[in-house]
Amino acid sequence: MKSFAFLALSCVVLGAGILSQAQAGVPQEAKSYKNDVAPILKNYCVGCHTGNSAKAGLDLSTYKGLTAKREKATIVAGKAEKSALIQAVKGSGEVKKMPPGRRTVKAAEIEVLSAWINEGAKDN
Ligand code: HEC
Repeated sequence: MKSFAFLALSCVVLGAGILSQAQAGVPQEAKSYKNDVAPILKNYCVGCHTGNSAKAGLDLSTYKGLTAKREKATIVAGKAEKSALIQAVKGSGEVKKMPPGRRTVKAAEIEVLSAWINEGAKDN
């Protein structure tokens, strides 16, 4: 009985170890516009933010649109918290929460967007 308890405990400890290692590895991986950022924006934002009728004149379907000059910068390279994009998905700052309504960008996805901006918001 005792050895079973030990075995069970070992499994938990080992499992947690592997899990935390995997999580610790995530922020170290450089984020890519094409592979990481664009799919998130496509999923949540591009429906309203593309083409000639883009809401707020903001085109989030391309890197060019995302980084175009605006009164309130969508992206401030290196400064996620100052970027309207991050304020919008968090519903913080003076920017309206995006997307409007019940959908909310997942915390893990906001992490990805923030990491990419803090890594310099490269067209990678
Ligand atoms: C259902 C349509 C819709 C979706 C989806 C949507 N937006 Fe918007 N967005 C709007 C509208 C409408 C405005 C203009 C709001 C206003 O000025 O009152 C806007 C404005 C903005 C602005 C400008 C805010 C400002 O104060 O300058 C940003 C940044 C923005 N959206 C980012 C996003 C992001 C990022 C997503 C995806 C996570 C997204 N939007 C998804 C409709 C949408």
